[in-house]
Amino acid sequence: MNFYLTTPIYYVTARPHLGHAYSTIVADAVSRWHRLLGDEVHFLTGTDEHGQKVVDAASAAGLDPQAFVDSIAPLYAQTWQRLGVANDDFIRTTEARHRAGVGELLQACYDAGDIELDLYSGKYCVACEEYYTDDELDPGDRCRIHKLPVEIYEEENYFFRLSRYQDRLLQWYADHPGAIRPEFRANEALGLIRGGLRDFSVSRTSLTWGIPLPWDTRHVAYVWFDALANYITAVGYGTDRSQFERRWPGHHLIGKDIIRHHCVYWPAMLLSAGLEPPAGWAVGGWLLVGGEKMSKTTGNVVDPLDLVDDVGVDGFRYYLLADTPYGQDGDFSVEGLIGRYNSDLANNLGNLVSRVATVVGKGCAGVGPAPSSDSALSSAAAEAVRANLAAWGEFQPSRALDATWSLIRATNAHLEANEPWKLPPGQQLDRVMGDALEALRIVAVLCWPAVPSTAEEVWRRIGLGGSPADQRVPAAAEWGGYPGGTVVTKGAPLFPRKQLA
Ligand code: ME8
Ligand code: MG
Repeated sequence: MNFYLTTPIYYVTARPHLGHAYSTIVADAVSRWHRLLGDEVHFLTGTDEHGQKVVDAASAAGLDPQAFVDSIAPLYAQTWQRLGVANDDFIRTTEARHRAGVGELLQACYDAGDIELDLYSGKYCVACEEYYTDDELDPGDRCRIHKLPVEIYEEENYFFRLSRYQDRLLQWYADHPGAIRPEFRANEALGLIRGGLRDFSVSRTSLTWGIPLPWDTRHVAYVWFDALANYITAVGYGTDRSQFERRWPGHHLIGKDIIRHHCVYWPAMLLSAGLEPPAGWAVGGWLLVGGEKMSKTTGNVVDPLDLVDDVGVDGFRYYLLADTPYGQDGDFSVEGLIGRYNSDLANNLGNLVSRVATVVGKGCAGVGPAPSSDSALSSAAAEAVRANLAAWGEFQPSRALDATWSLIRATNAHLEANEPWKLPPGQQLDRVMGDALEALRIVAVLCWPAVPSTAEEVWRRIGLGGSPADQRVPAAAEWGGYPGGTVVTKGAPLFPRKQLA
């Protein structure tokens, strides 16, 4: 099955921070789960490089816009690589393929009669690149997200006639229940549509750093129109029709700050151009630091790479994925990070891997016995697999990991109940250890999307060839796959315990 998944394309006005890492890692883990399912996965991320904000940031840095974006975009690509993010493509909105596709999309909406010239005056938040009405602003005409004063803009703009799409959008959502997850975020999006839709301007004349409208090159495309199009231009819209037809529609993973653009503007733009709306949206909450959204504007930015130095890539990924139910706001703290690391990774998974290798080393001459077919652990494993299938399917990594860690805890409890370290070599010991190894094999498959290097290392230590990456669920997670007779290696602790600095 085709599974095309996207992250937001991040503004190059900020360096990658923890909030960006969060949404990118959730998307990476979900796409890895779909790789295990055997889907034809295409996972896209990238950078949003046009608009007033970028011009302002470039001039503050003393660079022209192109030099500026060229200096920042690679920081995103490098950070994702460092965090084990396996994206298949990285789109920059300054690329030629994007420019071509945006031109085609604009022209299609224009030809449909949905883009028209009009005069507009309004209150504009440059940080959001968005006009607001008075009732959408805080006292003092400040934007609710950035707490910054808005500016008055007056321009002759082309407008996208979003107001014509209220009924069509409501009908589309009624026909596609569950398209927006979690459910309460769908209610937010539907509330915006039911509340009435205003036309939005899709062009600027006050700016040159953007993509010119094909039929009137005095105007460049509004940055959100340009940015949203990345999801189709990256898969060939405007350049490679057959790729586009193969991959589209895709699933979008976004933050709750950009629901209006993704769940209201974007499907209307697509319908206008005669294209299918997205296959779905997974909407995340914000990671808060000290109760505030992390953002460059609020100044409470945490660099993900600093945290990786402390707890490793997988320690960091595990914390982000396990600690916050996707969709809710989460609270980031170093105490929380270290706490999860010590309890779930060092004490549960790390300890299980090390005691299994120790006992097999001493009692089974370092060779892993085969599991039994009627193990008490097999039903715990089946339950973990079932829960993983459901949870990943709903973009809920925290629930998936919870289920996998239940299997880890059950396996540790099984060892404690049977005390194999006290048993003499022989059938009884082999049976306990074969079952524990099989549980570990299944754990390695199930946790691979979240903590890929750890899963691969566990796989190697229990003597298996290849990689969990090559396994196909659910078949590969069925009880009984561990062959036995393979050499089990004891290595250094996977997760040495950490003290709070
Ligand atoms: O909005 N917690 O880019 P952006 C969780 N370029 N997620 C966070 C976060 C936080 N504190 N901070 C950021 C833009 N994010 C546009 C998008 S898409 C066509 C154009 C994540 O750099 C979250 O996914 O402001 C949010 O939606 C996204 O970064 C916004 O990134
Ligand atoms: Mg933002």
